[in-house]
Amino acid sequence: MNTRVSEADLVHTAPGTIAGRYMRRFWHPVYRSEDLQVGHAKPVRIMSFDFTLYRGETGVPHAVDFRCSHRGAQLSIGYVEGDQIRCLFHGWKYDKAGQCVERPGDRGHERPKTHIRGYPTEEYLGLIFVYFGDGEPPPLPRFKGMEMDGIRDVTVDVLPVNFFFSLENDASHFPFNHRDLLPERNLSGIPEVWAEESDWGVACFDKWPNTDKVGVAHKGMPNVGYIVPTAIMLAKAVKHALHVSWRVPIDDQKHTTFRVNLAPVTGQDARDILASRSPTFYDRSMIGSLGDAVLAGTLRLSEIEDRTHIEFIQDYVAQVGQSPVSTREHEQLSHSDAAVVTLRRIWKRELQALADGGELKQWRMTEKVEPPVNTI
Ligand SMILES: [Fe+2]
Repeated sequence: MNTRVSEADLVHTAPGTIAGRYMRRFWHPVYRSEDLQVGHAKPVRIMSFDFTLYRGETGVPHAVDFRCSHRGAQLSIGYVEGDQIRCLFHGWKYDKAGQCVERPGDRGHERPKTHIRGYPTEEYLGLIFVYFGDGEPPPLPRFKGMEMDGIRDVTVDVLPVNFFFSLENDASHFPFNHRDLLPERNLSGIPEVWAEESDWGVACFDKWPNTDKVGVAHKGMPNVGYIVPTAIMLAKAVKHALHVSWRVPIDDQKHTTFRVNLAPVTGQDARDILASRSPTFYDRSMIGSLGDAVLAGTLRLSEIEDRTHIEFIQDYVAQVGQSPVSTREHEQLSHSDAAVVTLRRIWKRELQALADGGELKQWRMTEKVEPPVNTI
């Protein structure tokens, strides 16, 4: 008998869950490139699943299971040798596919047959992506707009809230969640918001009363947000002109937001932007620490003097404040939740198709979603 997928299924991504099975059909960023040095290994947890990420001595990142198959030691404490990793405990050695290639204590008496799993990896836009699904992975999605020259910042924020709460963020929160930021964005009033299914996921539209321009932000299935570059953005060379983000579950209670921001400016414009950055620009630890203090009632948002990351602290308190996932049972969605409703409807449809063995929509970044860069 087939399962009937419900809204509650969207937030559980451990191995074997329906949303976990769906998510594993896509590539996910798991680490920032610059944080993984050559010859180092790290324990990483995503979707309630632990694995070992290491960068081989050739510079290429690899992902294999968390434990050595010998006696269960944690492989991330082992030795990286070439593109292989050797367990610290008794020296069993694995290649990038997880095949055991050496068991030194056996003194050559037995040909190694044991293996763990290895997972395909790719590096793109300053992030390391891993594919945890079965079989041949699909091509890694590309973002042409993000490949332009300019200042590229890659950020990694851990939020103690289910990934879906952050994924659902859309323009309707801005007038209140970021009320003090409206003047600098030339925005006022309450935006009209609407959404429609796209080739890639959901196109989320917003129209503010003080402008004729319609804004669009895309959600790419299953967990991507993308502000597609427009001619206006590029002409203005604004600091955070475009960004792409991935909401990657660590487990059902917390996730990592990986974000790439691109300011498509070079030369003196770029030097001016870099010079204008505050000393705390690269320290994002205050987002969680100050956010937690605000949620605990020991600090008010208005008392935060360093405004460098204020937008993210505001988002943090709104989204983390929705935790735990059980709060979703008591929600009252309204007219302004068009994007949320559309996203959940699509997710449920796809999960039901997966549960039933039906046909899944093949999500694609078409020119309707992202126009060719040379035309923008
Ligand atoms: Fe926000």
